[in-house]
Amino acid sequence: MYTADGRKIIDAISSWWVNLHGHANPRIAAAIAEQARKLEHVILAGFTHDAAEELAERLRKWTPAQLTHMFFSDDGSTTVEVALKMALQHFGNTARSEKREIVALAHGYHGDTAGAMSVSDESPFTGPFQSMRYSVHRVHSAYCFRCPVGLKRESCHIECVQQLEELLAERGAQIAAVIVEPLLQGAGGMIVHPVEFLQKVRALCTKHDVLLIADEVLTGFGRTGKMFACDLANVTPDLMCVSKGITGGFLPMGITLCSDRVESAFRSENRLHTFYHGHSYTGNALACAAAIANLQIFDDEPVFDRIATITRVHALRLRHLSVMHQVGETRQIGTIGIVELRANDPGYLSDLRPKLYAFFLERGVLLRPLGNVVYVLPPYVMEPEELHHVYDVIVEAIETLL
Ligand SMILES: Cc1ncc(COP(=O)(O)O)c(C=O)c1O
Repeated sequence: MYTADGRKIIDAISSWWVNLHGHANPRIAAAIAEQARKLEHVILAGFTHDAAEELAERLRKWTPAQLTHMFFSDDGSTTVEVALKMALQHFGNTARSEKREIVALAHGYHGDTAGAMSVSDESPFTGPFQSMRYSVHRVHSAYCFRCPVGLKRESCHIECVQQLEELLAERGAQIAAVIVEPLLQGAGGMIVHPVEFLQKVRALCTKHDVLLIADEVLTGFGRTGKMFACDLANVTPDLMCVSKGITGGFLPMGITLCSDRVESAFRSENRLHTFYHGHSYTGNALACAAAIANLQIFDDEPVFDRIATITRVHALRLRHLSVMHQVGETRQIGTIGIVELRANDPGYLSDLRPKLYAFFLERGVLLRPLGNVVYVLPPYVMEPEELHHVYDVIVEAIETLL
């Protein structure tokens, strides 16, 4: 990107985790322009259009086979709202309305609308809106660096999941859904979970007839090295939220996918069983065209080779960073490299954050540390030498500021 005074800035966070194939990607730009000449938008209630149909077909090739239904909306937060509402109404429609409680993880983040804030953990983002948040059950996440049960990953057996196990044993009959960010909790501190954690959560949900919602808003579309994080763990959720990268970072769009079992509860002569949720721009044709072009790029270009190259550079640089005394832990999942710095005041409001942000930007690198956690989340077109440059600047910042 170039500033008004001509300085160059390299976007090392994919503009809030949305961009995949570079800014102003010509293929996506052309697809949007072509779609605009055919149809810009049409109501998606009672109507459909070619671009929405094609997008659903193409997405189906990448998503778990059991998730046969797709509900369109506008952004990550609304995909979460939709998933939560679907889970609750699913049980309501099937005469099990006692199942209406939700479980979410510590350190979770699912968006800024009221329902999404409720399932997100308490943070500076939710503080002022406490009265708008409904109560949910909160259980441990697998934050190995700060293990919630005081164990070491090398010798543990994912004991952190026992809290969920006990909760479901006790209240499973009242619980509708567990929502997780699969394998990577993003805004809560870029926390990478062992795959066994997600697998155990899946098994517990199945055992207690509780729906598993996988919020893949951040992790989707290759970020973790596979198309979706759930693929890495061989886990199929009952509902899955996708957004952010779906349009390659061009336009807002979200889709909540669900299984036939979830959807079947809404197939009814009783009109009160309808899922009454809609947004004006749902299924916007321009956004659909961008998303189709994005998936076409996955089909035609060596996107997973680019992802593998980025993955290798992260691994190399993080190995060196991990031995710096200012570094608490380095973590990685696919295209995301993470450096948790030692700080007296860890967390989003750490004093390190504004200093680091300014330091990076002065050197032409856009990075937005989550407090004392610096992460690199590049578009897949970032070249190895550019990524090395980003890491050189991070090392310089650590040596200068800490
Ligand atoms: C895991 C996750 N879910 C949901 C959201 C909310 O998405 P949006 O900002 O598009 O509403 C985010 C945003 O960062 C996210 O990381």
